[in-house]
Amino acid sequence: MIYAGNFKTNHTRSSTIDYIKELNFGLKDKKEEDKVYIFPPLTAIDFYRGDFTLGVQNAYPIESGAVTGEVGAAQLEEFKINTILIGHSERRELLNETQEFVSKKFNFFKKRGFEIIYCIGEPLEIREKGQDGVIEYLKKQFMGIDIDYSNFMIAYEPIWAIGTGRSATVEEIIATHNKLKELSNRPILYGGSVKETNIAEISSIDSVDGVLVGGASLNADNFLKLILH
Ligand code: 13P
Repeated sequence: MIYAGNFKTNHTRSSTIDYIKELNFGLKDKKEEDKVYIFPPLTAIDFYRGDFTLGVQNAYPIESGAVTGEVGAAQLEEFKINTILIGHSERRELLNETQEFVSKKFNFFKKRGFEIIYCIGEPLEIREKGQDGVIEYLKKQFMGIDIDYSNFMIAYEPIWAIGTGRSATVEEIIATHNKLKELSNRPILYGGSVKETNIAEISSIDSVDGVLVGGASLNADNFLKLILH
């Protein structure tokens, strides 16, 4: 299983350092085949040691240049970062990232060999119309994306399940992941209100290769409970 923690706009450099100490202590008991990723905010990026991969939540598709407030590949290279989240619904919705821009970013970081966790997910009004509509919606989020790229994973995160405490049901996850598996042979993570009380059920689904966790990853002890469950 893959366990990825997306801190979003939480934690500082100082609290991330404390977090990693605690995480590393607990990871001594992790199953060897399990893989852990953490995505702290950019200001907390540094060289950290441990049995996990450090990635970034975002970067701009440019080597370096004039894009005020953004970081490009050169800034990530300094910290040997080569893992990135792309397409998160919060960036699509709050920051108006279009599919065209998201795919540009995907292709830019693909060219540099980055490991990409590519996020997709439907809003509630689409889910309420039924499974077929969901798949149609998700397929559009693959426009311009090379699904044969060997260094990427899909994270299926229904928007209505993010930060709401209401995860998708096992049936919804199975139906959606099975369809996604027909499209791509890459690993598929589920994200959206994954927590201590549902990790056993969600991780036991065959087509769930891992989880992308927001709220329940913010405290190292909580995240460890998911990883070591
Ligand atoms: P929550 O686990 O807080 O629902 O967030 C999921 C998510 O958006 C991870 O990227």
